[in-house]
Amino acid sequence: MNILLIGSGGREHALAWALANSPLLTKLYVAPGNAGMSELAELVSLDAADHGGVIDFCQTKGIDFVVVGPEAPLVAGLVDDLTAAGIKAFGPSKTAAQLEGSKSFTKAICDAANIPTAKYGHFKNAADAKAHVEAHGAPIVVKADGLAAGKGVVVAMAKDEALAAIDACFDGSFGDAGAEVVLEEFLEGEEASFFVLADGKNILPLATAQDHKRAFDGDQGPNTGGMGAYSPAPVMTDALVEQTLEEIIRPTVAEMARRGMPFKGVLFAGLMITDEGPKLIEYNTRFGDPECQVLMMRLRDDLLTLLMASADGTLDKVSARWRPETAMTVVLAANGYPGSYEKGTEIKGLKTASSADGVEIFHAGTRSDGGRLLANGGRVLNVTALGSTVAEARDKAYDAVAKVDWPEGFCRKDIGWRALAR
Ligand code: AMP
Ligand code: GLY
Repeated sequence: MNILLIGSGGREHALAWALANSPLLTKLYVAPGNAGMSELAELVSLDAADHGGVIDFCQTKGIDFVVVGPEAPLVAGLVDDLTAAGIKAFGPSKTAAQLEGSKSFTKAICDAANIPTAKYGHFKNAADAKAHVEAHGAPIVVKADGLAAGKGVVVAMAKDEALAAIDACFDGSFGDAGAEVVLEEFLEGEEASFFVLADGKNILPLATAQDHKRAFDGDQGPNTGGMGAYSPAPVMTDALVEQTLEEIIRPTVAEMARRGMPFKGVLFAGLMITDEGPKLIEYNTRFGDPECQVLMMRLRDDLLTLLMASADGTLDKVSARWRPETAMTVVLAANGYPGSYEKGTEIKGLKTASSADGVEIFHAGTRSDGGRLLANGGRVLNVTALGSTVAEARDKAYDAVAKVDWPEGFCRKDIGWRALAR
């Protein structure tokens, strides 16, 4: 089969790495990809926002299946347009991608299907939102309703902070994404991520993971796209996984089907494990980045078969087996990230760094310039290792990090601290 993968991050490098091993693969294209993927695939400079251009490419190259990595093309309806053109694609339709694209949509699904989540209010103007804050006090969570590249959430510990966040949303800090605001009850507990595949009606549980959203050690500093992850997440016991499937995932997929917007693709549940059990914080409708990197390290079955089964509605005919080991990934980011940072600095030493058994380096923002590898983004590399324990995975990952020669980059030194503390 000829496959086109859309995206350019560490998530897509990990997906490309897994797809490249598929016995079903003839040729893999990635648009636009990054320097790390050029060893596995042919990189093509397609704009995912130009659906006509993507369709033309698929028709010219005889693409059998398109795998969409990031959320933006899903929310923009790329899968709908490909499907209408007779091209099979992995991922949700535009209406089903509202589970990620609109927080108020997801809250309404939770209401309808009685899914445990934070209590909330949904507001279309600042005055009503502020009145809600005055009535409920802090801590309270302020969320821009739409897609805001992970930056639209403020966990306000004080009332003034909540009021300022409401102003920022309605003043246009997040563009259209902030035109409506969701205010949520503050949930206390440990966070975990749970991934399943869905095909509209069937669910195939994948695995659990934990991300590290803050930029600096000790979960300090600004929020980022994610500075490291590991899988499995020890907080997610088998009993909690079962409870999450029963109370959150299955009711969601059933409610989406009932509304005539069957969910196909990856459903990524961001959970808070509270004293009352798991509660849904948010859904994403694609793999996590960097969570995908650790999932792919642990997956023993053919990824392409699983993704096709999601698109074909045959997830009940396949299974996914996972290595029992822990996978950990440490993100190397450009100094200054998530604020402003320099591009074009040179990275050396990756061959040596990735030479150990069970170590893979997935690229994110990189590009090659002749024989040199240059940083080309905020999150740049994902140094990923498999170990028989969390401590072993951590040691292997950080041994590899130490061999990367990139003075202009930094990483957190404490990835995995929660799992290690257990
Ligand atoms: P989100 O973009 O919805 O994942 O939110 C970003 C982060 O904000 C989450 O990973 C949580 O750490 C935090 N968060 C979101 N909603 C809540 C909530 N209701 N209570 C406590 N923390 C939250
Ligand atoms: N790492 C969090 C996300 O992909 O949304």
